[in-house]
This record gives sequence, C-alpha cells and structure tokens, in this order.
Amino acid sequence: MKTLLSQEQLRDGVRRLAGEISLEYQDRPLSIIGILTGSVVLLADLIRQIDLPLRVGVIQARSYRGAATRPGPLVVNSELMPDIRDRDVLLIDDIFDTGKTLLEVISQIDDLRPRSIRSAVLLRKLGRQTVDMVPDHVVFDIPDEFVVGYGLDYQDAYRNLPYVAALEAHELNEELAE
Ligand code: IMP
Ligand code: MG
Repeated sequence: MKTLLSQEQLRDGVRRLAGEISLEYQDRPLSIIGILTGSVVLLADLIRQIDLPLRVGVIQARSYRGAATRPGPLVVNSELMPDIRDRDVLLIDDIFDTGKTLLEVISQIDDLRPRSIRSAVLLRKLGRQTVDMVPDHVVFDIPDEFVVGYGLDYQDAYRNLPYVAALEAHELNEELAE
C-alpha cells in the first residue's frame, strides 16, 4: 500500500470544505446527508468543523452483486433518512468514481421535495466519470487507482485507516484489479 493522502492533508482538506459550506449555507435550513457506508468518517469530521445549525442524516446506497462479479443495479434505501422536505440538502460521499451512485441518490431525494440539493465528495477519480454531472464540492482529485482508508473499503476492510492509501495490483483480487 502506498499513502496517497496523509492525515494532515485530509485534515486540511476537510477544514477547507467546512469553510466553503459554512459560507454557502448561512441562514439556510441545512441537512447534511451522508451516503453509507463510505462517508461516515468524512461526515463525522466535517460536521464538527461547521459552525452553523444543521441536521445530520444518512442514506444507504449499494449495488447488489449476484453470482456475477460485476456490480448489479444500484439500490437506494432512504428509510433511515430524516424528513428533508423544504430543507437545503448537502449530500456527502467518499468518492466520485463513475458518478452513478451520486446521480441515482440525487434523483431519489429529489422526489422528497427538498428546497435544494447539492453534493460534496472527498475524492474524485480522474477520467472515470460516465454521468453528466459534477459534484458541487470536490476536496481532492486523485489518479485512477483503487484507494482505501478514511471510510473507503476494499471488501469491507481498511475503512478505519486514518489516511488514504492506494492498493497495488497484487493486493487486489483479479475481479477488481481490471
Ligand atoms: P460510483 O457510483 O461509480 O461513483 O462509485 C461510488 C462508490 O463506489 C463509492 O461510494 C465507493 O463505495 C465505491 N468506490 C469507487 N471507487 C472506489 C475506490 O477506489 N475504493 C473504494 N471504494 C470505491
Ligand atoms: Mg460507498
């Protein structure tokens, strides 16, 4: 594993994001919604840097894997999410890869009639996007490598690393190493 973003870089980046959000949402009914599970570390660090009244919630997005090794259709579960009607929603995710997750979550949340929806991601992988949208806030652009730590997992491991590291090809199963 090689470290891509150190604890210090992450701390500075999250502080920068919190500053942008604090300016943008003054006097607005802000609900910060983290996409489970990858956003939990960012969510916890971020909200403690924002000095505004706000609400916090989570929404689950995951792709079902059947017998095939490819990710299946994306399933979004908003049962855990508090009411966001007439609120300014800021969606938080760990990484913007193809962009399909964020796009799908936005389209489902839109049906719940929030006042606005914007998005912030910790990482954006360069050259991977297949959707016609960009997050409103990107903390770090990274090369197209498989990364773990600070909430991001590989087969549910490594979320607790306090830094972001890239896994080398030999550390990945063939199905993910393509
Ligand atoms: P997207 O829908 O392709 O943008 O993928 C977003 C989701 O894929 C993220 O929330 C992560 O759960 C997962 N993901 C994409 N790239 C990586 C990575 O490099 N490491 C860990 N998870 C990743
Ligand atoms: Mg995720």
